[in-house]
Amino acid sequence: MLSRRAGEVQPSPTVALSGKIAELRRQGTDIISFNIGEPDFPTPDYIKKAAFEAVNQNFTKYPPTGGFFDLQEAVVNKLRMDNGVSYDPKQICVSNGAKQSVLNALYALCGEGDEVIIPVPCWVSYTEMVKLTGAVSVLVEADEKRGFALDLAAIEAAITPRTKVIIINTPNNPSGAIYSEESLRKLAAMAVEHDFYIISDEIYEKLIYDGEKHFCIGSISPEVQERCVIINGVSKAYAMPGWRIGYSASAKPIAKAINAFQSQMTSGACAISQKAALAAITGPQNDLSNMREEYDKRRRFMQKRLNELDGFTCDTVKGAFYLLPDISALLGRGYAGKTITSSMDLAAFFLEEAHVAVVPGEAFNTKNKLRFSYANSMENIVKGLERIEAAIAVLS
Ligand SMILES: Cc1ncc(COP(=O)(O)O)c(C=O)c1O
Repeated sequence: MLSRRAGEVQPSPTVALSGKIAELRRQGTDIISFNIGEPDFPTPDYIKKAAFEAVNQNFTKYPPTGGFFDLQEAVVNKLRMDNGVSYDPKQICVSNGAKQSVLNALYALCGEGDEVIIPVPCWVSYTEMVKLTGAVSVLVEADEKRGFALDLAAIEAAITPRTKVIIINTPNNPSGAIYSEESLRKLAAMAVEHDFYIISDEIYEKLIYDGEKHFCIGSISPEVQERCVIINGVSKAYAMPGWRIGYSASAKPIAKAINAFQSQMTSGACAISQKAALAAITGPQNDLSNMREEYDKRRRFMQKRLNELDGFTCDTVKGAFYLLPDISALLGRGYAGKTITSSMDLAAFFLEEAHVAVVPGEAFNTKNKLRFSYANSMENIVKGLERIEAAIAVLS
């Protein structure tokens, strides 16, 4: 009765987990959420104010498909100043979150018969979005020994005449890895040599610690920029996930196709949110710095505590707001007659026994890992990790 695609596409496992947590909360269970991929801070006041003003000024009509011109211009300025890439405002398409921007880009670039290389672990949605286009994902393991850096030899080995796109995400969800300029230059050279496109998801660009630098692959040369779709948005950096504003920047023919898809699917993104995003991008950036400082404190604390836990190994990572500890040492242990054989089992155990929610590595196409988000208060981080420590002690 349903379509073939409906049978193929899986709902987002992180969203499904949130549903389970909501159910447990309704039953009165006090759950600490380390599964969330959104800032715990409220949206800064100057951004909210811009939204109220937009309502009062009656920005309540259909916005243009690609976004308001002033927002497109602000994005162009941002990309030039922060990332060293120049675009015309027409090449920017503002969407309902970076999520839609990634899907638009995939729709514009690939379809049946095409292959899309994705370094894993990767964000839960990439593989399902590739399925929506009819293309096939080719998963390539990142180099875990080098902090989940790009494994260029493995990527090269995965290239075929059908390779149409590689999706990269730096800083990375879930690993927190930041891809080095050197590796991105080599990857870009491969893309030029083998004639494929690069979708570069840079949504965590502003969440970087320890003096690390973000490098935008599109800035390498005009030739490389032509084959890149740069994705970014305001959800993570400005604590605005609910406003649903992301954007893509791409070569003119790609931008035209992206606009055509979006015009038939959802039209322009919420007018009021666009005005809020404009304020976020062009306004004072000190709220962003304050949030980043707070994430940094939590990152260091959480990593130290995770490494103190029996069976956990957690490397230092310098981006996003996630840690991805290895939990292989806990596999084979048991409780109440059950044996933990996967990170999925361990996540279920922590949810049931410790009332702490984490995301199992399987959701990101990896094994023996759990993703911990530190987009949560220090108080909850302290409490949640104490609960996990107590739960591990019960395992035999
Ligand atoms: C890597 C990555 N890209 C894109 C998104 C989607 O961002 P948005 O909320 O702007 O749609 C997320 C959200 O979790 C993400 O982790």
